[in-house]
Amino acid sequence: MRTDDDSWDITESVGATALGVAAIRAYESKREDALFHDPYAAKLVGAVASPGWDALMAGSLSGQNVDDGDLRGWSMGSVLIARTVYFDEYFAAAARAGIRQIVILAAGLDARAYRLEWPSGTRIFELDQPKVLAFKARALAEDEPAADRREVAIDLRQDWPKALLDKGFEPGEPTAWLAEGLLRYLPGHAQNQLLEKVVELSAPGSRLALNLGRGGDMADEFRERRKKVMAEAGITIDLENLFYPWEDRHDPRDWFAMHRWLVTEGDPVALLEDHGRSVPEAAKAGMAHHILMTATKPRGDETQ
Ligand SMILES: C[S@@+](CC[C@H](N)C(=O)[O-])C[C@H]1O[C@@H](n2cnc3c(N)ncnc32)[C@H](O)[C@@H]1O
Repeated sequence: MRTDDDSWDITESVGATALGVAAIRAYESKREDALFHDPYAAKLVGAVASPGWDALMAGSLSGQNVDDGDLRGWSMGSVLIARTVYFDEYFAAAARAGIRQIVILAAGLDARAYRLEWPSGTRIFELDQPKVLAFKARALAEDEPAADRREVAIDLRQDWPKALLDKGFEPGEPTAWLAEGLLRYLPGHAQNQLLEKVVELSAPGSRLALNLGRGGDMADEFRERRKKVMAEAGITIDLENLFYPWEDRHDPRDWFAMHRWLVTEGDPVALLEDHGRSVPEAAKAGMAHHILMTATKPRGDETQ
């Protein structure tokens, strides 16, 4: 059960979801037709030294292959791959637009600070719970980030703006924010407060990208099977009990539009197909429940 001040290590509670998404990135990175290469994902997941996590990352749990076996049609797996591509492209565009300040909210095991090309002078702030960032620091101790990476170890239900400012965040400079795989782990009021703070701290020309699952991603029958296979491998991620309800929060598309940011939506199915990846019909319905969006705060000279 979630509580207002719960905390976790990387293999526990919400922390394990960061391992789950990194395992899928590791799996995708090994495909011949991989849509991205994240060599750090395998290193990070491998650092927990657990056969279950190794099997998930290899795409094989109880002999089931992520693509062709029992997990086929897992819309969440396809969404994870699509959103990685979408947010990678988002950061590349932000860098081309001259943005040099990046804030990754709930960074988890996101290795973009290490694996993407960043223009010199880029500062990347990574926020997450202290034990999650400590695990990542240990696992990547020998790796060099490709930008000025600064850890902000804080719970995002607490006063994270102060912690961010204390680490050198410049509110007068345009920022590219990312909230990937975060919002449903926050109660609705905490999501709304977080987005309010993002607006307050954003200079004109700032951008934000996020994803938000509305639920209904997969048939119950499939969900139960997936849970059972993972539990047999010693992996417990009980999303239904980690997520807070969708209904108690603003829809971020409406919310940013109301604040006069320019909102653009991504379509995960179209994105994968545009990159030459076919999407199983079984996955498409669940993927349609997933919001992928960017929003830009206009500079003074742009029409709204
Ligand atoms: C599904 S993972 C996503 C991680 C990363 N953004 C990615 O996509 O690889 C969720 C992350 O949100 C973080 N998180 C959730 N609620 C949080 C909170 N209240 N404070 C800080 N971090 C939080 C977890 O620690 C975890 O790293």
